[in-house]
Amino acid sequence: MAATEHHDSAADPAAGPAESAGPATGRDVGPGADSGADDSGTDLSGKTTVERNPRVARWFHAAVYVAVILLLVTGWWLLLGNEGDPSVVARITGVSDTDVHTVTGWVLAGLTVLAVVVGAKGWRTFWRESVRFQHGDGAWFRRWPAAVLTGRFGRHEGRFDPGQRVANLVLVATLLVLVVSGVGLALVSGGPAFVWFAAVHRWAAYAVTPVVVGHVIIASGILPGYRGVWRAMHLGGRLRERDAHRVWPGWTERTTGRTHTPRHLH
Ligand code: HEM
Ligand code: HEM
Repeated sequence: MAATEHHDSAADPAAGPAESAGPATGRDVGPGADSGADDSGTDLSGKTTVERNPRVARWFHAAVYVAVILLLVTGWWLLLGNEGDPSVVARITGVSDTDVHTVTGWVLAGLTVLAVVVGAKGWRTFWRESVRFQHGDGAWFRRWPAAVLTGRFGRHEGRFDPGQRVANLVLVATLLVLVVSGVGLALVSGGPAFVWFAAVHRWAAYAVTPVVVGHVIIASGILPGYRGVWRAMHLGGRLRERDAHRVWPGWTERTTGRTHTPRHLH
């Protein structure tokens, strides 16, 4: 919730009357909130913000990542041959690593079914935006290694940048393989099917790990180019327009209705 946002002293003069910093609801506050198609508001320090992900997407994302992090920790613990030796998760919960893993695995499988059944529309948008590769994406990738530090990303028009689109496809594919093979492992208790599921499950675990680690490093905003983007998925799901414009220029312009980020946001 935006109420936890800190109030820095560099309040922007454009922030307007005091009531714009009033009870932070995470919704539009302050000037600009009612300017036509403009979906922007201001944060408590008066910087213009824009809503990136709706509440339902944020809660789904949070549930998935709690499950995936538990699965990664317990799965790797088992893979490294520590089955008899409780991991920190097993010690905290008092449940064996195998059981924590299997129960959390069922939770992730349930979330997947829920997403498909209840969130079909959201998935369609997510998928459509993730497979939309365009001319110019190659140039974006060439500039990317330097841009993560300088913030000078190549231009792209998507809701997701080209790197996110690749990550989305790999994440969805590998997580689906993990869910299917994991359910297989949980249901059969031996024989050639178990061996086959175990091999598939293990290889998918190898594939998903670097992608999740990379995503968390990027999305946490510790790299200068991605500073501030963590807010897109946390608290009110609103990030500063300046940060949004740097990473998703076309999307930000369409959302705010402004072709150029106002000078005071640079
Ligand atoms: C992020 C997702 C997941 C990751 C990274 C992951 C990783 C792993 C790893 C590395 C192992 C050990 C394999 C070995 O020792 O050869 C394992 C085992 C297992 N996983 Fe997963 N897994 C995931 C999701 C799931 C799901 C969704 C289920 C579904 C219920 C599941 C069920 C199992 C089962 C039953 C085992 C065998 C446990 C045992 O009896 O030793 N996993 N997993
Ligand atoms: C551990 C399992 C996780 C999975 C499977 C996952 C998956 C995803 C996916 C598929 C997206 C959609 C767009 C994109 O690719 O960026 C996303 C967005 C996002 N994730 Fe995660 N995530 C995980 C963990 C985290 C964590 C721990 C953070 C904490 C910083 C995080 C922060 C974000 C943010 C800020 C976005 C919004 C990006 C945007 O608006 O485009 N994620 N995540």
